[in-house]
Amino acid sequence: MKQQIYLYRLFKTGLSLLMLISLFACSEIQETIRERLDFDAAWKFSLGDDPAWQNPDFDDAAWRTLILPHDWSIEGEFNNDNPAGTAGGALPTGIGWYRKSFTIPAADSTKMIYIDFDGVYRNSEVWINGKYLGKRPYGYSSFRYNLTPFLNFGEEENVLAVKVDNSLQPNSRWYTGSGIFRNVWLIKTGKTHVDHWGMFVTTPEVSADKATVQVQVSLLSATVDAKQVQLKTTITGPQGQEVAFAKSTLSHLSSGNSVTQQFDIQNPQLWSVDQPDLYTAKTTVFVDGELTDNYEVKFGIRTFHFDPEKGFFLNGEHLKIHGVNQHHDMGALGAAVNTRAIERQLEILKEMGCNAIRTAHNAPAPEFLDLCDKMGFLVMDEAFDQWAKKKNTYDYNIDWEEWHQADLADMVLRDRNHPSVFMWSIGNEIREQFDSTGTTIARELADLVKSIDDTRPVTCGLTEQDPEKNFIYQSGALDVLSFNYKHLEYLDFPKNYPGEAMLASENMSALSTRGHYDMPSDEDRLWPPAYNQKFVGNPDYTVSAYDHVYAYWGSNHEDTWKVVSEHDFIAGMFIWSGFDFIGEPVPYEWPARSSYYGIIDLCGFPKDVYYFYKSLWTNDTVLHVFPHWNWQEGQEIDVWAYYNNADEVELFLNGKSLGKKSKEDGKYHVMWRVNYEPGTLKTISWKDGEKVLERTIKTAGESAKIELTADRSTITADGRDLSFITVKILDKDGNMVPYADNLVHFDVSGAGFNAGVDNGYQASMESFKADHRKAFNGMCLLIVQSDGNPGEIEVKATSEGLEAAQLQINAN
Ligand code: GAL
Repeated sequence: MKQQIYLYRLFKTGLSLLMLISLFACSEIQETIRERLDFDAAWKFSLGDDPAWQNPDFDDAAWRTLILPHDWSIEGEFNNDNPAGTAGGALPTGIGWYRKSFTIPAADSTKMIYIDFDGVYRNSEVWINGKYLGKRPYGYSSFRYNLTPFLNFGEEENVLAVKVDNSLQPNSRWYTGSGIFRNVWLIKTGKTHVDHWGMFVTTPEVSADKATVQVQVSLLSATVDAKQVQLKTTITGPQGQEVAFAKSTLSHLSSGNSVTQQFDIQNPQLWSVDQPDLYTAKTTVFVDGELTDNYEVKFGIRTFHFDPEKGFFLNGEHLKIHGVNQHHDMGALGAAVNTRAIERQLEILKEMGCNAIRTAHNAPAPEFLDLCDKMGFLVMDEAFDQWAKKKNTYDYNIDWEEWHQADLADMVLRDRNHPSVFMWSIGNEIREQFDSTGTTIARELADLVKSIDDTRPVTCGLTEQDPEKNFIYQSGALDVLSFNYKHLEYLDFPKNYPGEAMLASENMSALSTRGHYDMPSDEDRLWPPAYNQKFVGNPDYTVSAYDHVYAYWGSNHEDTWKVVSEHDFIAGMFIWSGFDFIGEPVPYEWPARSSYYGIIDLCGFPKDVYYFYKSLWTNDTVLHVFPHWNWQEGQEIDVWAYYNNADEVELFLNGKSLGKKSKEDGKYHVMWRVNYEPGTLKTISWKDGEKVLERTIKTAGESAKIELTADRSTITADGRDLSFITVKILDKDGNMVPYADNLVHFDVSGAGFNAGVDNGYQASMESFKADHRKAFNGMCLLIVQSDGNPGEIEVKATSEGLEAAQLQINAN
């Protein structure tokens, strides 16, 4: 902050100035001066700690060279003694340093130069040319430093040094990653420019015919002698067409630090989850006729509201929130942000019919929100997992006092233009909800949010549903009440909270391992809760893919969805969790080291319950049948089917019909109890006597060959793009072998490299960074990344005794 003191904040107070706003049908040609440079390449990295490493003269030639974003934890080995514990993924943490040398052309000496960090986990400290710029404890906050006063311009080098200290453990209830795990940008502007996150676009009035768009721009200036400042703003529509233009001229320099412009957009194309149309506001800043900055923001035009009785409405239409909770890791890539990896997660969720995500329990990467804007997801943007009262010894509680205002304000400032963001959550299961400090802090936080953005409701993930006992609720600061778990208590909500709007911010915590099926005994079937308990803490670390095992505070998918779907006052729900994530293997212990809660495993392979949601949340025709068909002769097997767009489903075993079934009241699947015999299990869904879909599962023979399937066979040669390759172990006839655990070796050559491997097994001790992986229940995953060069990438997979497989990916 200090180095910014010489900056003169333009137009400090009041609105008394003469502001001329002229509206034109079209703008002048767009000009640019601002540069936002990808600053991720050519960093040096070392684990360890030495104060000398901040020194520009230190020789870091022997250090490893890498490209950010980087997470050193994911590169490590699992170990029960790692101080983050299994909750933190049992991976190493510690202290690491990054250094980068760079030059800035002499011609830039008239500019302002900033460095933007999207997120560094955690306790980053930054030096430029030996000068200390500052510290940022919270790893999920984005932050900026002004480099201008300390830079060498011309040929002389500059050295940035970043210390990252994730050594105090445990500091999280889930895997965080360690390092500069999000992108870094170098920003160059003229001396008078739009402040950091200094443009705020709102849509105060929206109807089908017309939308009023308001653009508020905050300016910063290092010069005090400018005579006249002009702001020209163009709004372009989803197809890139210019739809509005405004020019504001400020004739005095010393009054007001922001400029507000208004636009009328005729027949606006509204942003929705099905059609996420985006507009762009582009502003140029001129001082005495000279261009000093240009800045742009994407935004959406949409309305929404919560009705205490009827739930949630987007653009006037009722929309049930079909949400999931997501932590920030990307499986084998760890927490190192990769846009394609996030996009793939969102694609898989979209296909399931998911329309909303809660960023549990921290601000996400900016790329995540850009993708949600573009792909059509609503986002509950959540700030904290704890306030002053700790959940872990060294979690954010130790930074709370000094940093919570800055961290919350920065999240709201950064994210307030995203149409996807529809709620601000000030916390998750905050311990202060149980005493009066909850009231004080909730008010403080909500006021802070509203002072920056009053267009979105403030909420908080609560557990205490008794209004008398919940002090955060009693603050009156929450616009919408969000409750975690205990879905049957929701039924009392209208009585306990008359006139309040609610949603379920967390449900289920149901446990399953992809491809693993436990058959309950007859006794267990009589009393499912007892059956459920058997799995909780079971050292086998394998839990059923059927929908009946869940943490004791949780619930199963079907019963919960029934309550949520049948009551309009419940605006919707967020499943815990969308994907399995690293850490929190609760209720299991070492060697379990990642979660069992996902409806999609860590590789991105859907578990069976994914299709339960797909059958209910999409119009795509679904017939999903499980389990596999490799059992002991005579064993009694429950065969389940999720289906939609049909009246009934018929099951055939080796050609013989076992009958047609349709969903019983309150159930969302059909089931047959079948005496196993090897062969073919065929299922047909019927509607009005016509066949809708047919599925066949065959008893698989011995593992015979490998099958590779790339999610994309052409990727961009940008050094970042990924191809996710699904590896299946098949028998000689092409059936997946359901118990196969063959060790597969990978050879990736040409214009790409192996970025990580996984098999989704939550207790696997194999490293994510290896050239081999054992299959787990017939499958594993290889992630291939472009190395920046165009060309072919050759992928070969071999395994002892199996027919090898290969494929080519084109990077261009
Ligand atoms: C919730 C918590 C989540 C996760 C989940 C596991 O209480 O908010 O972060 O821990 O339990 O069931």
